[in-house]
Amino acid sequence: MVLRLALLGMGAVGRGIIQAALEKDLGLIITAVADSRSGCIDPNGLNLPELLDRKDKTGMCGDTGISAETIVKTAPYDILVEMTPTDARSGEPATSYIRDALQRGSHVVTSNKGPVALHYHELASLAKKNHLQFRFEATVAGAIPILQTLIHNLGGNEILSLYGVLNGTCNYILTRMAEEGLTYKQALDEARTLGYAEADPTYDVKGIDAAIKLVILANTVWKKNICLDDVDVTGIDLLTEEALRLAEQQDATIRLIGEIIPGDNIYRLCPRIIPKDHPLVVQGSLNAIIVRTDLAGDLLFVGKGAGSRETASAVIGDILSIRDIHAGGN
Ligand code: HSE
Repeated sequence: MVLRLALLGMGAVGRGIIQAALEKDLGLIITAVADSRSGCIDPNGLNLPELLDRKDKTGMCGDTGISAETIVKTAPYDILVEMTPTDARSGEPATSYIRDALQRGSHVVTSNKGPVALHYHELASLAKKNHLQFRFEATVAGAIPILQTLIHNLGGNEILSLYGVLNGTCNYILTRMAEEGLTYKQALDEARTLGYAEADPTYDVKGIDAAIKLVILANTVWKKNICLDDVDVTGIDLLTEEALRLAEQQDATIRLIGEIIPGDNIYRLCPRIIPKDHPLVVQGSLNAIIVRTDLAGDLLFVGKGAGSRETASAVIGDILSIRDIHAGGN
């Protein structure tokens, strides 16, 4: 059975999905795509090379008369793949798109952190009530399958704590400043060019992006009901080049570390000085997470936390899980 996808968002992640669909036989067709200004629909499957070419040449993927909302409500699709930029405070317009798709009887996969951080419990219940899947692996730690692993594979454990590097952009900036002597601004510009940063990069450097990931982890893995204001957040935007130099002199470096200790309701994110041989001192856009559990002991996860192909990997994993459930597999 060929699954039909409608894609919302044609930034780094949306392009990553389209490229992967061109490179691999995934058993999928893309019947609709919207960007912030336009959209296109073809029930038989869009011509993807033409779509990419049009976007490169005109900055738009289709006609201005076709909006994301039109696609959500009228296009033919089995899975809505929602990849528009995160709004941490309202979660809109993405949350409305997701609700509408679930009410229409379609599964939803999203890489958008806003709706999951703000409305996970409501959206998960709506999906369950309608016998649909709502998946969001790409919202935390990019290519690392951390959510499925914690929720399902480690489901028999009590997960006692989690701490680690959860923002690829900040990790890239800190690495480039310490190792190549780049200024903060030069390193941030590079991270933006490489497609690691959020549409609004202040989300990355002020720690909002990593803090949202802590909220998503807390609410989905531990079934808490916390919001962004419950996280104690310090970003790297005020960190000086001098602070990094001082850390280097002690054979240490600085990393932006997020931490959850669910038993004590501790949720915090701040830059920390860490010895260079510590497992959380990873380079570039990598993320690294240490999870402490009662049965499995300590586990360390390392992988690319940002980037077009890496995030697409997580989104495609969710899509293929839904396909397998459809097919009655596992
Ligand atoms: N801007 C995010 C990061 C993207 O740098 O980690 C992945 O969530």
